[in-house]
Amino acid sequence: MEGRIIRVAGPVVVSENLIGAQMYEVVRVGALGLIGEVIRIEGNCATIQVYEDTAGLRVGDPVSASGAPLQVELAPGLLGSIFDGIQRPLPILRDQTGDFIARGVSASALDRAIKWQFDPHARVGDRVEPGDWIGSVPETAQIAHRVLVPPNARGTLIEIQAGAFTIDEPIAILQNDGARIEIKLAQKWAVRIARPYARKLDPDTPLITGQRVIDSFFPVTKGGTAIIPGGFGSGKTVAEQTLAKWADADIVIYVGCGERGNEMTDVLEEFPQLIDARTNEPLMRRTILIANTSNMPVAAREASIYTGITLAEYYRDMGYDVALMADSTSRWGEALREVSGRLEEMPGEEGYPAYLATRLANFYERAGRVIALGTDQRVGSVTVIGAVSPPGGDFSEPMTQNSLRVAGAFWGLDTGLARRRHFPAINWITSYSLYDLRKWFVENVASDWEAQTADAMAILQEETKLMEIVQLVGSDALAEDQKALLQSARMVREDYLQQFAFHEIDGFCPPRKAYWMLRAILAFHRELMRAIKRSAARDRVIKTETPVAASNNGNESSRAQEPVPSKAQEHIAGEFTKSLEPGAMPVHPTDHSAILERALALPVVPEIARMKEWKHDEAEARGRALVDEIARAVGALR
Ligand SMILES: Nc1ncnc2c1ncn2[C@@H]1O[C@H](COP(=O)(O)OP(=O)(O)O)[C@@H](O)[C@H]1O
Ligand SMILES: [Mg+2]
Repeated sequence: MEGRIIRVAGPVVVSENLIGAQMYEVVRVGALGLIGEVIRIEGNCATIQVYEDTAGLRVGDPVSASGAPLQVELAPGLLGSIFDGIQRPLPILRDQTGDFIARGVSASALDRAIKWQFDPHARVGDRVEPGDWIGSVPETAQIAHRVLVPPNARGTLIEIQAGAFTIDEPIAILQNDGARIEIKLAQKWAVRIARPYARKLDPDTPLITGQRVIDSFFPVTKGGTAIIPGGFGSGKTVAEQTLAKWADADIVIYVGCGERGNEMTDVLEEFPQLIDARTNEPLMRRTILIANTSNMPVAAREASIYTGITLAEYYRDMGYDVALMADSTSRWGEALREVSGRLEEMPGEEGYPAYLATRLANFYERAGRVIALGTDQRVGSVTVIGAVSPPGGDFSEPMTQNSLRVAGAFWGLDTGLARRRHFPAINWITSYSLYDLRKWFVENVASDWEAQTADAMAILQEETKLMEIVQLVGSDALAEDQKALLQSARMVREDYLQQFAFHEIDGFCPPRKAYWMLRAILAFHRELMRAIKRSAARDRVIKTETPVAASNNGNESSRAQEPVPSKAQEHIAGEFTKSLEPGAMPVHPTDHSAILERALALPVVPEIARMKEWKHDEAEARGRALVDEIARAVGALR
């Protein structure tokens, strides 16, 4: 039954007489047949959010219901695709309508002509249940596309054979209570509904990102969730893209949601050229891009997020580890706010709808490591990494707050660090991860991984405290070992945490290399502290030998018990007070300050700065050699 538009407000259209339409049903709006989705039904009126530009729509224009919710098509051929928010293939749309996509175009998400080689896994006569694995298609050289019994079908296989099939041809036939069910390579799934699984598992394996600050201090699990909030220019997009390139997921789904078009263009141009270092295959063969830029209508942002997560669940069900990157979830939040405003709903915090928190929670809950449906108990995972763009970098706003409540890892980007070009600008003091992966790293990388990362974090935290003192009274107020600690902290920051995303070798750092890098820095730190202690102890020996105390003999006996300052100590104290005076020149009165200076002049220091360039397979040998050299050179300082 056709309805008629009675109101148009931005992306929201109200239609009357759309009889029988369901919530979230897809409708075609106006003469162009713009794609929209019913988001409210009241009496005779249906409110529709339109995924395309509504300019030119008028009261009285027709609206027709499609009878189905917003669905994606699931079949071989998804990998390597570039879709818009409602799964229209962008390259094909461009061929049809040019660089600016015309409205109301429909195009099949997948190529219907390709014949895929189907190799059965189940046999005629097998009784199969939802999720059972009945055969495979080699979708790419690396990824076998497991063909599964759809979640709503079961029965006895009465036909299944090997051969070349298009996605629309039946590859198997089931019989259930006399009903014949055809199974095709293509299935559809409504994007707002999470795909079912048998059981959720505790996540226990890290998603190795190759970014030292993340893997060492704030790791995320396969099946976990992480958010990257940060102000403009703090590195969210670079972080998402770097993770999409390097994270050790089988499949990557990259959702560019409402960000500037040129960023998405970078992805669209760069990704197809990249080679996956682990498989030597083009990276696009394990990637699906969903591009929904800021100049596309806002309502489609929500669709792009749901489309992305549904595709992720589909490959999870096959038993793969999938990573979904969403840049930026804030644009989705803004779309919700705009649509909610048009609906004249009661606004919540800062104009966002009251259901913002629930929407975000429902989305992040679709992440997880699961045992899929099916008798073979495949394990797969969906990891979600969402960028958040708080206006002005203020993390107290609703999107950041509601996201961090549901996310397992929080990688807070710091505008100050980004301004100083410390990248990735992840603030090591405010960031956190709720995932305890110490056991995995201890078992799989190094037995002292946990101890080592804890030591490094302690140095960074101590640095923060000392810097407060330095800011108040200047660095000369610090004792020698404190100055040395600041140098070690600088090494941890510059030679370990900083990682240039576009560096040929250092863009990705395997944990084993990270371990040896950190071990060298910590070896330097410990040896230096020891050298300073040795020198201080020697000073004490010299001081107690000075005969100052003897001259006090015979005076008030009670005072004789008190330690008497030595000449050297008095001298230091004098210099210390002087150094606190405004405009005081820095002074280096003590003899053991020379230790720190001499240590920093050692050739091992520039060698530490060059560790990032170590080839991955040489890192361990070079790390061992450097640690030995540090022990020898710093250990020899007197
Ligand atoms: N890991 C990194 N390595 C090198 N440069 C980086 C890194 N992260 C960010 N940058 C620099 O910061 C700029 C802004 O980053 P971008 O990701 O676009 O910020 P955002 O998405 O938060 O606005 C980039 O163009 C790049 O020059
Ligand atoms: Mg960005």
